[in-house]
Amino acid sequence: MHNQNQNTKAAKIAVVLTDPDDWTANAFLTSIRKRGANALPINLSTLSVSVSTSDFSIFSTDLNDLLELDAIIVRDVGISSSLEQISFKFDLLRLFETANIPVMNSPNAIQNAANKFFSFYLFKQAHLPIPRTVVTSDLGVAMKAIEEFEIVVAKPIFGSQGKGIFKLEASQPDLKQKLATLLKERGVLYLQQFVPNHGRDIRVFVVGEEALGAIYRISQAGSFISNLSQGGTPLMCDLTEEMRALAVNATKTVGADFAGVDLIEGDEGLFVLEVNATPSGKGIKVTCGIDVTERIIGRMFERGLRV
Ligand SMILES: Nc1ncnc2c1ncn2[C@@H]1O[C@H](COP(=O)(O)OP(=O)(O)O)[C@@H](O)[C@H]1O
Ligand SMILES: [Mg+2]
Repeated sequence: MHNQNQNTKAAKIAVVLTDPDDWTANAFLTSIRKRGANALPINLSTLSVSVSTSDFSIFSTDLNDLLELDAIIVRDVGISSSLEQISFKFDLLRLFETANIPVMNSPNAIQNAANKFFSFYLFKQAHLPIPRTVVTSDLGVAMKAIEEFEIVVAKPIFGSQGKGIFKLEASQPDLKQKLATLLKERGVLYLQQFVPNHGRDIRVFVVGEEALGAIYRISQAGSFISNLSQGGTPLMCDLTEEMRALAVNATKTVGADFAGVDLIEGDEGLFVLEVNATPSGKGIKVTCGIDVTERIIGRMFERGLRV
C-alpha cells in the first residue's frame, strides 16, 4: 500500500533538530526539498506518545501521524535536563526504527559515538590508534594514571563542543584537590593522555565509505581546545590516505552513516579523538565549499526510504 502511495505522494522526511536557525539543520531541509520530498523540522521534546493495550501513537500539536514518516535525519537531539528526558528521546528514535522508518544516524550509532568511553572500547577492538585513557572513580587510580601520563586531558564521558575539558599535570601542587573536586562533580573521571600537537586537530567529514573533506581547527592562543565553538579557526586540510582510512573506519566502527571524526597528529602518527554522529556541516561548507547534507540525503535515498 505504502509503495503505491510513494509513487503518487512526495516522501515525508523529518529533520530532528532543536535550533531552527542552525546552518546544518536548514541545509538538511533544503537538500531534502531539492529532491522533491517534503521536509519536516521536528524537535523531539515536542513529541508525545499515547499507548494502550490496543493503540499506539506518536503526535505533536501540529502532527498526528508521525509513524507515517518515510525517513528521519537526526541533526541534533538536544541537551536534556534529565536522564528521563534523554532516554525518552532515544526511545522515540528507536520506536521509529522499529516501525521501519530509516533513522540516520541510527540512535545506536549516535549513542555509541556520544559515549567517549564505549566508543574508545570499540575503536580499540577495531585496532584504531587512540590516546591512552583511564576511566575511574578511584582517586588513587586517577593519581597513578596522571603520574604515568604526565599530562592528561580530563573530559566528560558525554560532552561536546570542547566543554568541560581540562588539562591536568602531574607536577601541579593542587592536583589531588582538583581531581577530588572533579570526581565529586562527575562521579567518574575520564582521563586521557595529552597528545603533544601543533595547536590544531583535524575534523574529517565522512559519508558512508567516503571521506569528503577535512579541516584543520587551529586553537586560539592560550588554549589547547580547537573546537570552532571554542574560538578555533578552520583551515582547509588535504586528506591523506591515513586520515581517510582512520576516519572511515572510526565511522563504521560506531555504526554511523555519516560523521565528523576528530583526529590529532601526535609525534608518532594520528590518533582518533572522537566520532561525532550529529556533526555540524558549517565548518566544512565555509572552508571547503562542500555541502555534506546533500551527500547525506543522497545516501538516505540510495539506501531506501520506508517500505
Ligand atoms: N588527548 C588529547 N590531547 C590533546 N588535545 C586534546 C586531547 N583530547 C582533546 N583534545 C583537544 O580538545 C578538543 C575537544 O576534544 P574532544 O575529545 O573532541 O571532545 P568534544 O566532544 O568536546 O569535541 C579536541 O578537538 C582537541 O583540540
Ligand atoms: Mg570533538
